[in-house]
Amino acid sequence: MTRSLVLILDFGSQYTQLIARRVREQHVYCEIHPCTLSIDTIRAMKPGAVILSGGPASVFEEGAPTVDRGVFELGVPVLGICYGMQLTSHLLGGKVEPAGEREYGPATIEIHEARGILAGFSKGERVEVWASHGDRVVSLPPGFSPIASSPNAPFAASASHERKIYGVQFHPEVVHTPRGAEMLRAFLFEVSGLAADWTPGSFIEETVAKIRAQVGDGHAICGLSGGVDSSVAAVLVARAIGEKLTCIFVDNGLLRKNEAVEVVKMFAEHVSVSGKQLRLVHVDASERFLSELAGVSDPEQKRKIIGRVFIEVFDAEAKKIEASGVEVTHLVQGTLYPDVIESVSFKGPSATIKTHHNVGGLPARMKLKLVEPLRELFKDEVREVGASLGMPHHVLWRHPFPGPGLAIRCLGEITKQKLDVLREADAIFLEELRSAGATYPAQYELTWQAFAVILPVQSVGVMGDGRTYENVCAIRAVTSKDGMTADWSRLPYDLLAKVSTRIINEVRGINRVVYDISSKPPATIEWE
Ligand code: XMP
Repeated sequence: MTRSLVLILDFGSQYTQLIARRVREQHVYCEIHPCTLSIDTIRAMKPGAVILSGGPASVFEEGAPTVDRGVFELGVPVLGICYGMQLTSHLLGGKVEPAGEREYGPATIEIHEARGILAGFSKGERVEVWASHGDRVVSLPPGFSPIASSPNAPFAASASHERKIYGVQFHPEVVHTPRGAEMLRAFLFEVSGLAADWTPGSFIEETVAKIRAQVGDGHAICGLSGGVDSSVAAVLVARAIGEKLTCIFVDNGLLRKNEAVEVVKMFAEHVSVSGKQLRLVHVDASERFLSELAGVSDPEQKRKIIGRVFIEVFDAEAKKIEASGVEVTHLVQGTLYPDVIESVSFKGPSATIKTHHNVGGLPARMKLKLVEPLRELFKDEVREVGASLGMPHHVLWRHPFPGPGLAIRCLGEITKQKLDVLREADAIFLEELRSAGATYPAQYELTWQAFAVILPVQSVGVMGDGRTYENVCAIRAVTSKDGMTADWSRLPYDLLAKVSTRIINEVRGINRVVYDISSKPPATIEWE
């Protein structure tokens, strides 16, 4: 069975990823590629439809990004969004001019023809959209007709029904175009006749077959952190190659309370493939990490030490596997689609894919080939696949946790005693977040990350009749979509009060709790 594919050609819009998300939400597979993709490659991909993204350029600019005209001769439907529409008009014989007034923000379009991508609307209907363009189309190419207009754009949407080429001068992919999903759905299903065949089940089936073919008679290793991505990647690969996968879980002594035990237990209890448990090596390297970190208070130095020691420990474990007569050939990584897009984006010369924290450098040194079963997926799709693989909900909804762990939340010098105090406070905070909220989802799932930080500051307090002089603990909870920007969570006061009271009463060594109300930027999520 060949899966439907929508090819999204990127002209550098900030919304390109969002177009992909919206298409995937309709269970149609899509890929983003730079607009410079050759027509031969495009043909070979056999897309069922093409979407040309928006972009910041103007078609008149010297060196403005363009696309091979062959795209319009493929015989498959094309939808141009903003710059994509202007370029389509420009290339096919229409006329584009700088608009008198830049149209940016909310706009109202009037539907002239309820057909094609506007099939679900009615003639004369007025629809809210989100516009963002400097230029505008003033005459359409031969064979095209306007299907909607706005006061500022006479051709807010255009169509050649015969050639199935559509254009919109607004963004149907953003939430500010409330009925944008209907337009995209009409484009995918009515106009292009695609099948909604991108489902977790079909993904798992295909990926398992691919991994089997890729690893062959080899043996793969996977660094398991307990996080969502590496856990789902491990289970998926295990489903494909079973005992030919060994997972290595390194306890660096910088994990949250009970985390090491929980990760191992979770894999033992919940994650089995065909009745067999994953092969999991649990390495307790906490003493080694803590002794190498002793006396170090500079955050960057902490990160470097942790990264280096991790690789040494991981490497040593891989060598042990090899010493037992098994040749390790592959390394499993939980790379996701946003990392892949970043490296192929039209905007970026940033050609390197972000090396997944901690294991960077290993593949080359050990001459390992990479297995990246999630590189086509967005985070929410990873969770859906995980659920389909039978993985427990709490694992799939865990907050991200930084590679250097509590080392960057224990400010200044790290000691086992400080880490233990931090772990207790952190556990109370998370426990309260998980149980807070009369209705599902719990506060925990409404926040992107939440954690405690122990400050190298002591403050005076009073407990019973005595004066105390103990550490200050900061708690931080943020909302975010991707960690790049974040805002502090407006947690209910009652919840904050309960967390504070519990931490001060139950954790020896802390007598004051403060709530971090900094957004990112200018602050960062982590304190170090
Ligand atoms: P910041 O603090 O830069 O964090 O706002 C953004 C996101 O990245 C995580 N983070 C790290 N992850 N190694 C990692 O693997 C690191 O050194 C590191 N530093 C920050 C952080 O938890 C947040 O999700």
